[in-house]
Amino acid sequence: MPTCTINDVVCEFEEGQTILEVAHDNDLEIPHYCWHPGLSIVASCRICLAEVAAPNPRNDGKIETIPKLLPACQTPAGEGQIISTKSEKAVESQHSVMELLLINHPVDCPVCDQAGECGLQDYAYRYGNASSRFEEDKIKQPKKDIGPHVLLYSDRCIMCTRCVRFTREVTGTGELMVEGRGATESIDVFPGKALDNPLSANVIDLCPVGALLDKDFLFTQRVWYLKSTPSIDGLTSSGDNLLVEHNQGEVYRLKPRENMDVNRWWITDEVRYGWHFIKNDDRLLMPTLKDGEPFEDDAADEAWEVTEAAALDGLQDAGHIAALISPMLSCEDAWHLGQLVRAIDPHAVLGVGPVPIDGQDQTMLDGFVIRAEKAPNARGVRRVLDALGGNIVDASGFEQALQDDASIAGVLITGNYPSEWVTPSLQQAIDGGRCVVLIDTLPNALVDSADVFLPAATWMEKAGTFENATGRLQSFQQSVRPKRWCKGESQIAMDLLARLRGETAAAFCDDQTRKVMSENGLTEMVRDVHHPPAQDIQAESDMHLIVL
Ligand code: FES
Repeated sequence: MPTCTINDVVCEFEEGQTILEVAHDNDLEIPHYCWHPGLSIVASCRICLAEVAAPNPRNDGKIETIPKLLPACQTPAGEGQIISTKSEKAVESQHSVMELLLINHPVDCPVCDQAGECGLQDYAYRYGNASSRFEEDKIKQPKKDIGPHVLLYSDRCIMCTRCVRFTREVTGTGELMVEGRGATESIDVFPGKALDNPLSANVIDLCPVGALLDKDFLFTQRVWYLKSTPSIDGLTSSGDNLLVEHNQGEVYRLKPRENMDVNRWWITDEVRYGWHFIKNDDRLLMPTLKDGEPFEDDAADEAWEVTEAAALDGLQDAGHIAALISPMLSCEDAWHLGQLVRAIDPHAVLGVGPVPIDGQDQTMLDGFVIRAEKAPNARGVRRVLDALGGNIVDASGFEQALQDDASIAGVLITGNYPSEWVTPSLQQAIDGGRCVVLIDTLPNALVDSADVFLPAATWMEKAGTFENATGRLQSFQQSVRPKRWCKGESQIAMDLLARLRGETAAAFCDDQTRKVMSENGLTEMVRDVHHPPAQDIQAESDMHLIVL
């Protein structure tokens, strides 16, 4: 393999790699703004300029320093090159670039959402000057509302054009452009056109400074308070890798987590903003009994005790039962619910809940796919239920079974959808004097008629595994505790099963569950599950607060 030397470190590389890519592969930092691995190279910001010495074939291969500094993001690595971004000339260039970039920048870090994760701020410390020589008036640019999710603060922009290239090279929608030239050039939307495409908010992540900001996150939290927990898209079948960013039990935003095998660097706006239902005011938080008095807030333990006993009695008394396992649940949830149902009635009908489909899959220019299937784990739930054996049906088969078999006297229904999901036909099929136990999160047509309602935790409030549209099994971690008195479906099922067996319930553990599943025929639940890389786990800011 050819080698080059970057800042005194000998690095192997593959033909065609740029100096910046080789540096990245070897954990060496070269500053960069306009370069992004998912976009074309324009080499416009010049912060990556490096001093390069290379063998000169016209001088017997003698190593000679190239007089001009070269952009590391655009220059191919070559055998025997000696590259420095720490030489006097390179450092002087970095200082000049930072000085130029900051000339018209308002330096309004105290009120900027990007502070704490700003490339300009970081590089100003590492590669900039301590003071500015610029005393003239700065050019002021307007703030603009350029789309449903994005605000543009033009005077913070450093014209890296990542956002413009994203709309041209990834979404193909081309809403953004560079307007003007020279000192007054700026990013803008075309007249009458909003930045409104299914991936529009990715430009916020791409912006290395605070020029493109997220309306949804604006002024809600300083980023250094946020903790990041690796997770998976819990709303669609994409399996997109995410970071859930939260503080003190509150989720504030979702960010894409790079995974070249799944979502590359992006997530859809639908996934990025679709999580808000977890803190809806109408979220159902307390177990209830039909016709029973509502439980007081300080009686949650009693509420769970009474309702779980009623749920178990109702299903046991029914004798023959059916259960609808939602595709919004994890494989582990499906496993524990299946164990419970089969323990109550070995011949129970098990169904996979309705799988919402919206249009067709849409493939972006770079291969990123927006999934039409709006449930994260239809395949995983089906896989687990199939492993349990017996009568496994889809949602319409479940309705049919209820209509055809009057001996089914009890039903266990799970939901956890982000919006109303109960169809009139399902409601009608369930009716008929059956005992109904509903485990769900939001109000829907079944809540009032259910004999027992048990409040469930959403996917961010529990750990588990989803299988995406391509059959990839991926685990996700619990980001925040379940809201108020809610519990994960696995825990509810384990509690009910322990009650049935007269045992003490154990606390749910996803690793342990996967192990048990593997020992019971689902070997892939240990062998094939992809786990998030360790370095992403609970990354905390290294900033310290000083109380004055
Ligand atoms: Fe190389 Fe911008 S990162 S010129």
